[in-house]
Amino acid sequence: MRILMVGDVCGRPGRQMLREQLPQLRREHRIDLTIVNGENAAGGFGITAPVYQEILAAGADVVTLGNHTFDKREALTLLDEEPRLLRPLNYPPGTPGRGYCMLEVAGSRVLVANAMGRVFLPMDLDCPFRGVDELLEREAGRYDLFFLDFHAEATSEKEAMGWHLDGRAAGVVGTHTHIQTADNRVLPGGTAYLTDVGMTGPAESVLGMDRKAVVERFLTQLPARFEVAEGKRQISAVVVEADPASGLATEVQRIFIRE
Ligand code: FE2
Repeated sequence: MRILMVGDVCGRPGRQMLREQLPQLRREHRIDLTIVNGENAAGGFGITAPVYQEILAAGADVVTLGNHTFDKREALTLLDEEPRLLRPLNYPPGTPGRGYCMLEVAGSRVLVANAMGRVFLPMDLDCPFRGVDELLEREAGRYDLFFLDFHAEATSEKEAMGWHLDGRAAGVVGTHTHIQTADNRVLPGGTAYLTDVGMTGPAESVLGMDRKAVVERFLTQLPARFEVAEGKRQISAVVVEADPASGLATEVQRIFIRE
């Protein structure tokens, strides 16, 4: 089974790039399951119903989120209505939505989850490591493959999650920093790992945002309004090949296309 994970789709340019590139990527890499991180898809912050539908129409099977999950008010209801739209599972109990879903893909049961790190993120969530452990314990015997989008800032926390799940997940892929890392590998226990898959959206930007405003903020330290940049675009993704019989990966390949 081949799983494609596309990194943080940023604003309209990101959605356009996804629409243009995803069909060919899915064909070329013979993809069975497509996961897209959409937490920056609506104007750079959060997600709305039309934007979620647009990402599905582009070819996504599951959409994951992160620290911007609830930036748009309508996410509160949307998350409860859409079982394939995931927010980090380690939000406090009672938070709208869900952190995982189970899919039937080519005759196998795939468990997809989203978790969020706690290092250098301005949120006080439950422990993501224990959260994932509890999920795997609860769903034991009910899935063939497990894949995690770990939305986190610190490389240390992400790498630690990779090792924590080595041998128990087909893939652990990081999101959030918007910069693709080059450390893709299959860990010794059989888990495909990549610290960060990177961003899909404006290429001549600071993490997707208009670069002038960001540079100005660094220069002046004054508050500034950040808007999604325009111009040339990029798509960042990763392909994980895994064997449903073992639940483990055989290969992990980075994809990065810049206009
Ligand atoms: Fe994020």
